[in-house]
Amino acid sequence: MDVTSSPLGARCTDDRRWLKRKTRPRYADGQTESLRVVDLFAGCGGMTLGMAQAAHEVGLGIDVRLAVDFERDAAEVFEANFPHARVECGRVEEFFSGGLGTALSAAERETRRRAGRVDALIGGPPCQGNSDLNNHTRRGDPRNQLYLRMARAAQVLRPNVVIIENVPAVVHDRGRVVELAMERIEELDYCVAQGTVDLSNLGVPQRRRRHFLIATRHAGLATSILSGARSGRLMRRTRHPRTVAWAIEDLLGRSDPPGTGFDSPGRASTANQRRIDWLFERDVHVLDDSERPPCHRDKPHSYRSVYGRMRWDKPAQTITTGFGSMGQGCFVHPRERRTITPHEAARLQTFPDFFSFASESRRTAWARLVGNAVPPFATLSIARAWLRGACGEIDD
Ligand SMILES: C[S@@+](CC[C@H](N)C(=O)[O-])C[C@H]1O[C@@H](n2cnc3c(N)ncnc32)[C@H](O)[C@@H]1O
Repeated sequence: MDVTSSPLGARCTDDRRWLKRKTRPRYADGQTESLRVVDLFAGCGGMTLGMAQAAHEVGLGIDVRLAVDFERDAAEVFEANFPHARVECGRVEEFFSGGLGTALSAAERETRRRAGRVDALIGGPPCQGNSDLNNHTRRGDPRNQLYLRMARAAQVLRPNVVIIENVPAVVHDRGRVVELAMERIEELDYCVAQGTVDLSNLGVPQRRRRHFLIATRHAGLATSILSGARSGRLMRRTRHPRTVAWAIEDLLGRSDPPGTGFDSPGRASTANQRRIDWLFERDVHVLDDSERPPCHRDKPHSYRSVYGRMRWDKPAQTITTGFGSMGQGCFVHPRERRTITPHEAARLQTFPDFFSFASESRRTAWARLVGNAVPPFATLSIARAWLRGACGEIDD
């Protein structure tokens, strides 16, 4: 695809309508010119979905040349939502096996041959080792080296744009993975920018800070997109920040009995249900220290948002894999005496209703897939800016 020839108009879908949409747009119908994408550490496909929608808005299809994840359930959900994609359940290192800067391995030549020309390389390498929530192993975790597989993939595939998502603490990695990746990608003649973005600036109804590395072929474009993302400029034509109500208000009164399905909350323990009642009876959002388990009581503590109740008129706190339990974050529904359902968590992560998690029925898997996903709107906003910029329409 020549991105400079795409029929760009001012057509930006009404994001909220898209979020509630039950039928899937015709993304990968194979009949239109398509954006060719490779998604590594693809999970259930949050990043690809953002790319697909950005492409759709400018009249392009999406052609997923390769999506790789080693979790079978993630690959299955991806495949169910992108039936034309080449989805591989395996290790990214099998497809990109060579050392940075070295000649391509046989496996890499084959990966390149099968992928063909690639417009966008996207990926969210595993981040547990860097996560601030993980104090034991962070920063020296060998999994952080997987970040560099993205740089290697850029060398192998030479896409027009590279987007890598991670947790903010990735910049403190002992192996300097971000610096190394930047150096390597710059050597390939890309303009590279990196920094942390509050995703509420990208249309996500959450205070979720994430690190992005963006590399483009157009000089200055990556820097311009990243600064637009950080300042909120990419969203200036919309009401922002978006709130919890914006994402889930229409689902009020819809929840099923606890523990049953995608529209049901987790089962609260007796102690936690009492805490939820305590919050509602006082109409407050933060639990008193006296109501917390003893290990959370010492002051000052960093657990303020844990056991919290969401605010209807504010973005949610970061949605994690623990959204089904009030002891793992601020996950109590703002209006109903329960935690949020997988469906509400998916909405707050900006997965539209047409995106199906139905190939999976285990609540633990939904929690992992939804909580680990890169919110589609994050990639959508960045990809919109990239497509606009590649057409010479980026504004400062
Ligand atoms: C942060 S999640 C990615 C989320 C995904 N980008 C999305 O938007 O839904 C990281 C993913 O990397 C996968 N993963 C971790 N190590 C891997 C490896 N060596 N090869 C392939 N997948 C891996 C995990 O199964 C997980 O789904």
